[in-house]
Amino acid sequence: MTNDQTSTPSSSSSPGTASHRSIGIDAIAFAVPRAYVELADLAAARGVPPTKYIQGLGVVQMAVAHPDEDPVTLATEAARRCLMAAGRSPAEIGLCIVGTETAVDHSKPVSSYLHGLLGLPSACRVFETKHACFGGTAGLLNAVDWLAAGSARGRCALIVCTDIARYSVGTAGEPTQGAGAVAMLISENPRLLELEPGITGCFSQNVHDFWRPLYRKDALVDGQFSVQCYLDALAGAYAEWQRLSESSEPLVRTCYHVPYGKMARKAHQRRCQLDGMTDEAADKSFAVEVEPSLRVPSQVGNIYTGSLYLALLSLLYHQAAELSGKRIGLFSYGSGCAAEFFAGRVMPTAAAQIARAGVDTTLANRHRLDIPVYEELRKNDIHVDQRPSEMPSAAETGAALAMVDRSPRFNGIDNQERRIYTVA
Ligand code: CAA
Repeated sequence: MTNDQTSTPSSSSSPGTASHRSIGIDAIAFAVPRAYVELADLAAARGVPPTKYIQGLGVVQMAVAHPDEDPVTLATEAARRCLMAAGRSPAEIGLCIVGTETAVDHSKPVSSYLHGLLGLPSACRVFETKHACFGGTAGLLNAVDWLAAGSARGRCALIVCTDIARYSVGTAGEPTQGAGAVAMLISENPRLLELEPGITGCFSQNVHDFWRPLYRKDALVDGQFSVQCYLDALAGAYAEWQRLSESSEPLVRTCYHVPYGKMARKAHQRRCQLDGMTDEAADKSFAVEVEPSLRVPSQVGNIYTGSLYLALLSLLYHQAAELSGKRIGLFSYGSGCAAEFFAGRVMPTAAAQIARAGVDTTLANRHRLDIPVYEELRKNDIHVDQRPSEMPSAAETGAALAMVDRSPRFNGIDNQERRIYTVA
C-alpha cells in the first residue's frame, strides 16, 4: 500500500463512479433518553461480576427510555440539533429518510411525524427504511446517490437513525440494550466527512440471527450465532470493498456497527487477520484505530440503526483535528442480514463542525436509574403504546407544531388510536 496521506479532500483520486461532486456528511447530532442505567448496577442485580459487562462486553452505561420518549421524539430532537449544528433551516431539506427497526406504527412512518414536528417543506421526499440495524445506512447511501444523481437541486438530505433496543429482562441480551437517535445532514461540499459515492462493498444473506416478531416489543436473538453472522458479513463486505476501491490509500481509523464495544473489537481483529496481521499487531491497531470511536457508545449502549454513526460521532469528537484530510472506514451491519463497508475522508472543517454536536452536555444532562425503577419501566413497556393521551385536545403532530427549542413528548393515543406528540 502506498501511504498517500497528503492528498487533499475533493482532489483525491477516487471520486467514485456515480459522481465527481464532493458529497458526504455535513453535520451530525444525537439525542438520548434522559435516563440511563449503570452496567455495574445491572450486574449486581443479575449476580454477575461487573467486569463481565464492563470489560467483557465493553459497555459502561445503557440509555433507558421513559414512556414519553419513543423513536419519534428521539429522532425529532436529534434532527433539530443537527439542523442547528449545520446552521440550516428545514426549508433546505429535499429528502428525509428515517432508519428504524423499532417503528411506532405498521403503516405510518416515523418520517411523517418528523416531517410535521420539524416543519419540513411539502416538496420533500419522506420515507422510513427498515433492515434491522442497517436501515440508517440504507438511508444514507440513498441520499448520497440522490445528491450524486443531481436530484437535490441545491437542497440537502436529512438522515435520521432512531431506535430503542430492548431484550427481555434477565436475558443475555439485556446488558446490550440502549436507546437513542443520530441525525445527519447530507450535502455537497460537506464539512465533516466526504464519502466515496458508488464505492461500497455489500454483503447479504438470509440468516435468523436476530428478529422481532410483529407481536413483540423485545427482540429475540441467537446471540453467539449473531456474532458469527456479523463477522462473516464483515469479511464479505470488506473483500468486496477492497475489490471495488480505486484508491490504495490506507484507512487510518475504522468505525464499526457497535451493538456493544467488544463486538467492534472482534470485528477489527477479524479484519486485521484478513489483512495478514498478527494478533499482537491487531491489538495495537485496535487501540489506535477503533477505541476512540467506542467512548460515546459505551455510555449509551446499542442504538441499532444509529450505532455506527454514534461511533463516527465519537471518533470525530475526540480526534477530528488530527484526522483532518485522512481516510477512514465505516462498517454497517444489520441482522437478517445486510452489511456494507465504505470509506470517507475527514474534512479540515470537521473539528469546528463536531464541536457543535453538544456531546458532553447531552450525556451529562441525564439521570441514573436504580434497577428497581428500570425494571418497573420495562414491565410497563408492553402497554406504553396503548396509553390514553393525557391531553386529547392537544394538536396532533403536523405543521401546527413549528420547530421549537424543546423536544416533543409522546403523550399517548387519542380515541381513534392516533399517536399524540406534545412539546414539553
Ligand atoms: N470478566 C471479564 N470478561 C468476562 C467475564 C468476567 N468476569 N465473564 C465473561 N467475560 C467475557 C467473555 O469471555 C466474553 O468475551 P469474549 O467474547 O471475548 O470471549 C464476554 O465477556 C461475553 O461473555 P459471554 O459470551 O459469555 O456472554 P453471553 O453469552 O452472556 O452474551 C451476547 C453475549 C451473545 C453478545 C449477548 O449479550 C447477546 O445476545 N446480545 C445481543 C445480540 C448482539 O448484540 N449480537 C451482536 C451481533 S448482531 C448485531 O450486531 C445486530 C444488533 O445490533 C443486535
